[in-house]
Amino acid sequence: MIPTMAAAGALCPADVRAQFPALAAEPRVAYLDSASTTQKPRGVVDAVARALSERTASPRRGEYPWATRLSAEIERVRSAVARFLGAERDDAVVFTAGATAAMNAVAHGWGLAGLADGDEIVYCPDDHTSTVAPWLALRDTLSRFGVAVRLVPVRRTESGALTAGALAAAVTGRTRMVVLSHVHGVSGVRAEPAELRRLLDPSVLLCLDCAQSAGHLPVDLARLGADFAVVSGHKMFAAPGVGVLYCAPRTHAALRAHAPGGGAGALGDRMPARLEGGTLDAPAILSLGAAVDFLDSVGIDAVERHTRDLTRRAVARLASVPGVRLRSGEHAASGIVSFHVPGIRSADIGFALSAEQVYVRAGGHCLAGPDAEAVRLSVHVYTTPAEVDRACDLLTHIAESA
Ligand SMILES: Cc1ncc(COP(=O)(O)O)c(C=O)c1O
Repeated sequence: MIPTMAAAGALCPADVRAQFPALAAEPRVAYLDSASTTQKPRGVVDAVARALSERTASPRRGEYPWATRLSAEIERVRSAVARFLGAERDDAVVFTAGATAAMNAVAHGWGLAGLADGDEIVYCPDDHTSTVAPWLALRDTLSRFGVAVRLVPVRRTESGALTAGALAAAVTGRTRMVVLSHVHGVSGVRAEPAELRRLLDPSVLLCLDCAQSAGHLPVDLARLGADFAVVSGHKMFAAPGVGVLYCAPRTHAALRAHAPGGGAGALGDRMPARLEGGTLDAPAILSLGAAVDFLDSVGIDAVERHTRDLTRRAVARLASVPGVRLRSGEHAASGIVSFHVPGIRSADIGFALSAEQVYVRAGGHCLAGPDAEAVRLSVHVYTTPAEVDRACDLLTHIAESA
């Protein structure tokens, strides 16, 4: 079913919501934790069920029709994802188990093979651990073999922005790559990769964590100047178990099989199979295809407008609540609103909201620094203004009782 438009360009969350079995079954629940994972639309649920109940085979492993048909379906999903993310070519899209697996594939498929003594990687220490930890681990591995790679931190401003000046100060003649989040998972602040790209020497690679941007706003990786990008399927309506690693064509010659075996690793293996060792998770990949169909049916511009409006609504409401210290300011527009209430533990706020069937993330974010314990409301296409208001009413009450 195509969601109806309530007004020109505005989507009707109730119609969209009806496509989500879990939300339809629990109408009292305000699910405000979509930045952790999204609920799944009917098309995605059906895609997984079909993949498991219809003729299963191993994709890319057999010459009989069940296997060849499944292989062709997977390649159709690859094309759809390439178009959705603005990749120049289908073979720039590698299927992985998620964004974490994709970032590790960059570290091991590119970094382990190509970094030399004295090379530098510029990164943001307050990014998600999936964006940071693979590089810390790689540095430690390489140091055991006498190769010293330096990780150079870039600090964001107080409001969470990554400035051109801060980036320029971190980059040197030894910088090989800059790694950063497109949208930060707690502040919700969006970086401007195309502008930052222009500051970099063309030889420096740009690696984007798009876990919180893909499926939320239009992402055109070629236009953003990304060389690598990682995407999380389960945060854009697909089943857990699938993610995407985008590798710009100019990187392909430098990439090695990071998980050799099961169809990957032989010299001369072509992309993307070179980075897809082992049996692909066909149900999850097919669910990603259904997720892209769903997003296309709503329209990514409408998704962005809807989540931006809800984000601003929540920020405006919470900004006037005494005792609430907003982490996401006026820049936040990506569906994420985070805050602290000094004097009340985030976990206690989470419990209090949960008792009223308002589900948020209360601390325990996978990153370093004070943001790690923020309370985060995160909305998506199925979230209604009434749900945001309900959460804000409750939070006002909680803050007043502090
Ligand atoms: C910004 C960011 N990057 C990466 C990840 C990891 O994604 P995945 O669960 O697909 O490995 C997350 C998940 O919370 C995230 O928020």
